[in-house]
Amino acid sequence: MTRVARFILALIVGLALLTWATSGVVQTTAREWFERDVNSRAQLVLIGARQSLADTWNDPENLQRQLAALARDEHVMGAAACGDDLSTRSSTPGFPIEFSCSEVGSRVRGADAAAGNASQGFSEWSTVSTLPAGRVYVSAMPVWSQGQEIGFAILVQDLSYIDRRVSAAQTFLIVVFGILAIMAFGIPLLVAKRARSDWSLELRRMLRGGGKQSREFQPILSDMRELVGRMANERENAPGLWTAVRLKQTLNRHLHGERIVILANREPYIHQHAASGGVEVQHPASGLVTALEPIMRACSGVWIAHGSGNADRETVDRNDHVRVPPGEESYHIRRVWLSEEELQGYYFGFSNEGLWPLCHMAHARPVFRAEDWHQYSIVNQKFADAVCKEVDSKDPIILVQDYHFALAPAMIRKRLPAATVIVFWHIPWPNAEQMGICPWRNEILEGLLGSSILGFHTQLHCNNFLDSVDRYLETRRDQEQNAVVMQGHRTLVRPYPIALEWPVHWVETADSVEDCRAQVWRDFGLKPDALLGIGVDRLDYTKGVEERLLAVELMLERHPEFRGRFSFAQLAAPSRTKIERYRLLNETIEQLAERINQRFGKKDYKPIIMLRTHHEPPEVFRFYRAADLCFVSSLHDGMNLVAKEFVAARTDLKGVLVLSEFTGAARELTEALIVNPYDQEECCEALATALTMPEDEQRDRMRSMRSILVQFNVYRWAGKMLVDAARLRNQERVAGRIAERSSVGAAI
Ligand code: F6P
Repeated sequence: MTRVARFILALIVGLALLTWATSGVVQTTAREWFERDVNSRAQLVLIGARQSLADTWNDPENLQRQLAALARDEHVMGAAACGDDLSTRSSTPGFPIEFSCSEVGSRVRGADAAAGNASQGFSEWSTVSTLPAGRVYVSAMPVWSQGQEIGFAILVQDLSYIDRRVSAAQTFLIVVFGILAIMAFGIPLLVAKRARSDWSLELRRMLRGGGKQSREFQPILSDMRELVGRMANERENAPGLWTAVRLKQTLNRHLHGERIVILANREPYIHQHAASGGVEVQHPASGLVTALEPIMRACSGVWIAHGSGNADRETVDRNDHVRVPPGEESYHIRRVWLSEEELQGYYFGFSNEGLWPLCHMAHARPVFRAEDWHQYSIVNQKFADAVCKEVDSKDPIILVQDYHFALAPAMIRKRLPAATVIVFWHIPWPNAEQMGICPWRNEILEGLLGSSILGFHTQLHCNNFLDSVDRYLETRRDQEQNAVVMQGHRTLVRPYPIALEWPVHWVETADSVEDCRAQVWRDFGLKPDALLGIGVDRLDYTKGVEERLLAVELMLERHPEFRGRFSFAQLAAPSRTKIERYRLLNETIEQLAERINQRFGKKDYKPIIMLRTHHEPPEVFRFYRAADLCFVSSLHDGMNLVAKEFVAARTDLKGVLVLSEFTGAARELTEALIVNPYDQEECCEALATALTMPEDEQRDRMRSMRSILVQFNVYRWAGKMLVDAARLRNQERVAGRIAERSSVGAAI
């Protein structure tokens, strides 16, 4: 029972007791009053009538008339005149027989004798008695004639009307108390309700920021604002699910709905001339695009990228803009055109022959050419200029992506000092010693320190970066904040492991697992009891494709039971084919696949299915859903979203992921079969284990990995960075105001 209900109940019980006690008192008192009144009236009547009774005592007719006159009062039931011998001389009709002259006379005399009167005369007498019809008041009084007692007169009055009046008074009292009780509760309740609704309307108006803020609400308003702020913070840090909507709301709340500007080398939609004529849209094989494209769809804005498609120029407007995604058109791409020379030096040269092998431990020697560096600087400036043209405020939010743009953050900051530049480095960061071999290591570090936030996939990569800064630059390190301060500018260095959208829209639109399996089986002529492994990569030496095929070969050698049954399909998207190392890799893989196929293949069985062409996402997801296992054997990888895509695709909770321990993904997807891709024996056994894993174990592992992907999705990834950026902007605003005030103070 609530406290209010208890209080009301106690009040009602109290009032009822009070009413009961009061009505008892009222009853007794009223009765006494009425009876006293009846008594005095009886006396008055009898005294007044005594003489006339005496005068007519011996005249029966007149005596009868006198008695009738006495009984005329509506409350008088009857009157009687009694002689001194206790006989009835006269009585009115209806006089109660219970009070005959002899009966009353004995009392009147008895009373006289009891009073010590020895004369045996009559005395005044009265009593209350109860008849079947109700209570009556009986009074008697002696009658004298010429100083001599001649008899007595009796008057019987009806008292039932007193009971009626007393009970009416009681009822009235109860009703009055009832009304009082209702008013006592009802009126304050109504007033309180009205006041509460006025109060809450006023509070809501003020919370919405409308009108004048009255002082009485100030304490509660500030408490509420603090609470709301705290809840918002908790929500952002809460394990609750991040969605596109929540990301958009975070952007609106913290960054006042500012649109996002992304700078990335690779564009999310490439327009290509189709062999059949016309223009087709291609989705590039890029983890960066996989992760960031849903963010743009959720938030809108502009994605600035190299226009790399052979039909790209035909599809842009005169500002080099094209609205995407086709059919949805929620944001636009701004294409930047590069000359052959620029592309060669910036993309193939410094980015992919210099920085790429520098950052990956894959035993490829980095090549650093001055001309490449020169082009890299020119192109970074070109993109930085494009960014500055695209923004629509002095303090925009710019997301700079990857190793192609190490110099752009400082270039942007130079032109837009108040911009919030968030850099995400999608590949590993090498240790300080390794970084030291780059002739332009200082310029790269300084360029990146133009950012507000610098994100890596892992804490290890953050530490490597901070060590490199410590070793090669004059900066101050803020250990507590994990920040670097260079020439007064602060850069936060934080891990933000990248992720997938959830749900993945390619999975949502995919065919059923059974249909996917049936299509793949049909396309490749697999036997009904065949087992299928897949690898999905850009053809890059860091992905460990060679090691992967060698492991498959060893598995077929060690486990003959899988010969003729197990096939491995490698989807290899051609990548950076102008670079010698990539061409070499292509040839090596080709030869290796051929050798394995010759060794174990038969007329109707091909152990290695090489698919060296670009595959659009729907095809890739068909393979994910059809396969029995997916083997990700990167020698070194920042995250590797293929591993996550495979898990996301397995809505049936089947299939096994064999995952290199040198990927960022291995830290999150711990239920995969984790392997060292350099360890052939281990990989071979992991493949065999995957192919014989009971279904319930597959389910347990998949379920657990999928729960990680749901929670740590790409909306959370972006949301965390944006919230950190908003905090930083706020801190900078406050610091700016303090500096302003103190400079005004100093001037005064
Ligand atoms: O893995 C790092 C990365 O930058 C990815 O983010 C992206 O998928 C790929 O490399 C870039 O490939 P490309 O050179 O084809 O754009």
